Amino acid sequence: MSFGGVSSGVNAPVQRSTRSSDTQVLIRTLERLTGLRPGESRIGRLTAFAHARASAQEQSVQDYLRSLSRRTMADDRDEFIALATNRETSFFRGTRQLQLVGDHVLDPLLAVGAPGPVRIWSAACASGEEVLTLGMMVRELIDRPAERGPRPAFQLLGTDICRRAIETAQNGRYPMIAESRLGRSRAERFFDSDDGALVVRPDELPNISFAIHNLLDAPRFGQFDVVVLRNLFFYLSDSAAVRVIDNIEAALKPGGVLVLGANDGMVLGSRFEPIGAHCYRWSAR
Ligand SMILES: C[S@@+](CC[C@H](N)C(=O)[O-])C[C@H]1O[C@@H](n2cnc3c(N)ncnc32)[C@H](O)[C@@H]1O
Repeated sequence: MSFGGVSSGVNAPVQRSTRSSDTQVLIRTLERLTGLRPGESRIGRLTAFAHARASAQEQSVQDYLRSLSRRTMADDRDEFIALATNRETSFFRGTRQLQLVGDHVLDPLLAVGAPGPVRIWSAACASGEEVLTLGMMVRELIDRPAERGPRPAFQLLGTDICRRAIETAQNGRYPMIAESRLGRSRAERFFDSDDGALVVRPDELPNISFAIHNLLDAPRFGQFDVVVLRNLFFYLSDSAAVRVIDNIEAALKPGGVLVLGANDGMVLGSRFEPIGAHCYRWSAR
């Protein structure tokens, strides 16, 4: 660990000793692949999935689970991860925290007419609502009458471990009910309505791209002014949380800002200076 102390402090350790050996292998497999520590109901679902797949392939459950890391098992691994993840999200969720990004990062950059590009990463974006929310907020800031100088370019990236979630984000198609979170005027400006769905209008938004990415892996997207990583740490084991924070640290520009979720309960090292609720500025080592 490269800084002074991180603890998710939320998830009680899973009691492994009373579990069957199949369940122990399942929990270890999930933690190795994702860093997640599953609750009971998820263990039940994953166990049913693993039993069905193992029996279809005439394998033991443990052999099947161990095979999930193989390159040839990508489809099964994707399904396993889709079953393992809680992908709850919505447009304009926890906007007070996102507003801090506006106050501490975007407003100052816009005020001095920084050349940019300003880079923002929503690092566990689920089906994309969080990064689209940031995109709408940026667009609305850019639209304000210029205080000084030209507007910088913005690049927004949304990533998630779950292929299904990223495919939804890339399709940019959301149920009409999302309008209640967006409000009528944003829904009309940033989305077309098509056959009972809201479809993103990319030309109204800054540049936004999506990619599948496991936060246990080294970051590969360059460095960012802002990383938003909300509502993931709650589900991670302590060792996975340490690894993820190290990876996020490597992806922040000096002076960059990290935004966590209200329930993430992280204790970060001294290089992360609190600048608002669940919002930290990172100083380079
Ligand atoms: C509860 S959602 C949070 C979505 C969004 N950040 C928000 O707050 O609305 C948690 C997301 O973390 C993703 N996730 C879980 N483990 C991950 C990992 N190791 N790397 C990247 N994403 C992960 C899940 O697929 C899920 O979409």
